[in-house]
Amino acid sequence: MLNKKYLMVPGPTPVPERVLNAMNVPMINHRGVAYEGLFKSVVQDLKKVFNTQADILLYPAAGTGAMEASIVNLFSAGDKVLVVSIGVFGDRLAEIATSYGLDVEKLSFEPGQAIAAEKLAMRLQADINKEIKGILLTHNETSTGVTNDIENVIKVCGQHPALKVVDAVSALGAIPMQMDKWGIDVVFTGSQKALMIPPGIGLVAFGARAWAAYAQSTLPKYYWDAQKVKKSLEKWQNPYTPPVSLIFGLRESLNMIFEEGLENIAKRHELLAKAVRAAVKALGLELLADESVSSSVVTAIKAPANVSAKDIQKHLREVYGITVAGGQKTLEGKIFRIGHLGYASMADVFVVISMLEMTLQTLGVAVNLGAGVKAAQEVFLQAQ
Ligand SMILES: Cc1ncc(COP(=O)(O)O)c(C=O)c1O
Repeated sequence: MLNKKYLMVPGPTPVPERVLNAMNVPMINHRGVAYEGLFKSVVQDLKKVFNTQADILLYPAAGTGAMEASIVNLFSAGDKVLVVSIGVFGDRLAEIATSYGLDVEKLSFEPGQAIAAEKLAMRLQADINKEIKGILLTHNETSTGVTNDIENVIKVCGQHPALKVVDAVSALGAIPMQMDKWGIDVVFTGSQKALMIPPGIGLVAFGARAWAAYAQSTLPKYYWDAQKVKKSLEKWQNPYTPPVSLIFGLRESLNMIFEEGLENIAKRHELLAKAVRAAVKALGLELLADESVSSSVVTAIKAPANVSAKDIQKHLREVYGITVAGGQKTLEGKIFRIGHLGYASMADVFVVISMLEMTLQTLGVAVNLGAGVKAAQEVFLQAQ
């Protein structure tokens, strides 16, 4: 049987045809007028997605590059940072900071939980001498399908002077972000998620307090040096050869984002997530995260007893052509994750849910065929 492919992982996400076509153009000079016009328009529009007046620094890099860039440009060896981790990507921030010799304190929460804001508030109140220089946070923890209420988390930081740094790699563009209004100093993201273009661009929004910290920072930096990027930005250029094709793609994906509207995009993601949750619950499966904190861009589902999540993934992929994500680190084999991020629609939900029903039945899990589909249909019909 023809095995048409469906990519339903939380990044890289499917790239719309419009974006693919926009990238399929001859190369241009990255030091020429045409590029400068293109890059200027992209940077100006990105500010509207971050909701910021901060500088938008573009790095040819994975999201992890943007994480590293954020850290090396803000701190010096020995600086104390508080990493608030709710999963694999929060832990990664701690690993990067540790590798640069920062004094890392971790405030961790169990997989599936969001940040308990009062615990963070208590820790900061105890920091009488204001030793903590940075608070590193994750907006949407992709590994567990949990979204932190970043607005509230920043609020409980109160007047503490630490820099607030937010990983919005799997959030920005799909989950609302008000960088300036909420008082965040650095927000970073990657291209391969809600921005709907292929992997390869890391973006760091670097605010005024971040620049003040940069002036004091002595961590070694060359490729990631924010000042070099800013200097080139003044000419609408990049210090090193940029991924020109991706920037053509980003121009088109931003067009699509503004045509749909950021608010509508956020609502679409919420609706898709609601339908997926209703469907998997109707199939008797358990969600990893409590629904009050569950992500609108990825749903983490516990494998039923006696079935490995890996077998579910394998069957979906090999028999139906659907790729969903697995669990990472301690959750490997225990959960699978359905991505509904970026270029995702109602029809995608039915593809994955109906095939999940057949997969479960084939693997010997008692399911009521059609129950998941029906639950999703009800969610969508109610929303119409
Ligand atoms: C929340 C979050 N942070 C950081 C990253 C790292 O991005 P990359 O894999 O592009 O390095 C990811 C990737 O999935 C992510 O979801």
